[in-house]
Amino acid sequence: PTRPRLFSGMQPTQDSLHIGNYLGALVNWVSMQEEFEAIYSVVDLHSLTVDVDPGVLRTRTRATAAQYIAAGVDPAKSAIFVQSHVAEHAELTWVLSCITGFGEAGRMTQFKDKSSKRGSEGTNVGLFTYPILMAADILLYDAARVPVGEDQRQHLELSRNLAQRFNGRYGETFVVPEPHILQATAKIQDLQEPTAKMSKTSPAGSIDLLADPKQTAKRIRSAVTDLEREIRYDEAEKPGISNLLSIYSALDGRTIAQLETDYEGKGYGDLKKDLAEVVVGVLGPIRERAMQLLDDPAELDRILADGAERVRPIASATLARVYDRVGL
Ligand code: ADP
Ligand code: NA
Repeated sequence: PTRPRLFSGMQPTQDSLHIGNYLGALVNWVSMQEEFEAIYSVVDLHSLTVDVDPGVLRTRTRATAAQYIAAGVDPAKSAIFVQSHVAEHAELTWVLSCITGFGEAGRMTQFKDKSSKRGSEGTNVGLFTYPILMAADILLYDAARVPVGEDQRQHLELSRNLAQRFNGRYGETFVVPEPHILQATAKIQDLQEPTAKMSKTSPAGSIDLLADPKQTAKRIRSAVTDLEREIRYDEAEKPGISNLLSIYSALDGRTIAQLETDYEGKGYGDLKKDLAEVVVGVLGPIRERAMQLLDDPAELDRILADGAERVRPIASATLARVYDRVGL
């Protein structure tokens, strides 16, 4: 029996992924490789919506792929590839954009947020059509499942609508993707501002996969907490401590309740010191493996070329079906 296909990707928008990307996405990608035929992409076309230096983009694309592999995505089991290496992504986007309503695309809340911040002159059309490119990413591979966080739900809904609309108009062509809601996905908060999500936009409060272990330990020691002494999970009243407990629990396997019991009567300093050890213990080998991969760009490029070769036949068969259906 063939395994259901799954597609996911991250943008190469940062020099290093952070522990939120690891616990919120990569850990799940790794475990899903067994149950699914997984396709994991570094979605570099998406990242052109933000102004970026070409050399920096190229470096980040390789670094992102290296971190997928270092975190445990196995190129022997899953296809790992760079989106722009498979031209069908851009080609299908055009066809899909021609069945997307202007108003429909304009209702995407992420677009509304970003464009209102940048103003209409500072907003490129790529930002507007971004969710259509995302639909193409998914529909090209007949992906039955797409692991998504809350923030991508609306975009996945658009992908489903486009698939259904195309099928209705031209005959059964696309698999309508189902969201794969990740159970118990860790949501990691910023260390300096624990009421906000850890993100690439506030690097000072993040724990980076490629960071030096000393820097990581220091960041954990300087994490913002509160004026009490009690190590107790309470997101509203104690967001800093709660975040540290979440990270700890996700990495070490103990439940948060167990950690609360184990740290009864101990201080925040003890918690931070132990957590730093746990984090460095998990991330250290990932960092080393990523560094090795980045030291051997030829081998990394070979893995990525192999990934693209594995997925291209699927993508080109889908695009051929689509072109045939619409009369191209
Ligand atoms: P992209 O634009 O590539 O999606 P993000 O940084 O928004 O980049 O997210 C990449 C992946 O990491 C997504 O699956 C996202 O849900 C996950 N992720 C990002 N930040 C966090 C966080 N703080 N906690 C948990 N998961 C996160
Ligand atoms: Na995102």
